[in-house]
Amino acid sequence: MDITILGIESSCDDTSAAVLRGTTLLSNVIASQAVHIKYGGVIPELASRAHQQNIIPVVDTALKEAGVTPDKIDAIAFTRGPGLLGSLLVGTSFAKGLSIAHRIPMVEVNHLQGHILSHFIDLPDTEIPHPAFPFLCLLVSGGHTQIVKVSSPLEMEIIGSTIDDAAGEAFDKCAKVMGLPYPGGPVIDRLAKEGDAKAFLFAKPHVKGEFDYSFSGLKTSFLYTLRDKVAEDPDFVEKNKADLCASLQATIIDILLDKLIKASKRTGIKDIAIAGGVSANSGLREAIAEAGRRRGWRTFLPPLKFTTDNAAMIAISGYYRYQTGMLSGLDVSPVARLEDLQK
Ligand code: KG4
Ligand code: ZN
Repeated sequence: MDITILGIESSCDDTSAAVLRGTTLLSNVIASQAVHIKYGGVIPELASRAHQQNIIPVVDTALKEAGVTPDKIDAIAFTRGPGLLGSLLVGTSFAKGLSIAHRIPMVEVNHLQGHILSHFIDLPDTEIPHPAFPFLCLLVSGGHTQIVKVSSPLEMEIIGSTIDDAAGEAFDKCAKVMGLPYPGGPVIDRLAKEGDAKAFLFAKPHVKGEFDYSFSGLKTSFLYTLRDKVAEDPDFVEKNKADLCASLQATIIDILLDKLIKASKRTGIKDIAIAGGVSANSGLREAIAEAGRRRGWRTFLPPLKFTTDNAAMIAISGYYRYQTGMLSGLDVSPVARLEDLQK
């Protein structure tokens, strides 16, 4: 009988639970928190409270949709970090409660590794191609931007990362100054389709680390352009929204691809995957596919539903860890920062 894993994700503003049998997804329920929209960003205290309200119905629904009762679960995989501490605490505490009540072992999962391993989730009715090891994964989310060399589901080496903002942050912050709603990434993606990507030129960084990124310079350059243009014409943003979005998105994609191409050349690895919320971006997906065609890469673009935060990716990560006996004790506590998680 295949292993059954319940996954729980609560690191930011999505409460999610998923059930996996072997590597096949049986259910994946996500409650996205709308409470943050009017603030233009995630308010941690509100996120924790919403997780508390959502977690029981979300887990309950995931189990019902999968047709699984708690006594059939082999392990509870939960996000230990990185993320918002209060939010992580809700998922971790819930996992502990369920673990004690039903005597189910717990497996902690690194949220970022979860994003990467989302490439190994199988769907009951669709064949999804999986990358072969070792592969490179461009991990682009709201809080992190990394190039990871993945040698096995349990062996990952971060070979490049951002030295300041994440790519998702660049999308979200620039959207905010244009008066667009949170999260800005999907809105910019949509508007960019109607704009001219060459209309504006923004600064590209020169970062020392061969595979490292920086996005704060681009953000500043975007901000200064807006400031100068709005001084001349108060309606500038409104009139040029699509062009601004298209040019910004193209610059972010250029920056991301530049280092990824270098990493592929240097390592000789040609199986290239992307993961994380920004991997939903249609421009980035096209650009990676196109680069792949030109360079002989096999490219792996995750199904859209696995790009942003979800518990299916936590469950698949938990599946691999459980198989090698990597269980967590009841004394496990969540960790907000990636650096502390790796200690
Ligand atoms: O992975 P994720 O759901 O949460 C974190 O772990 O951070 O990523 C969220 C990020 C946000 O910055 C959001 O704006 C961005 O992913 N995002 C996108 C798109 N969809 C989500 N960015 C660009 N284009 C999109 N279509
Ligand atoms: Zn994430």
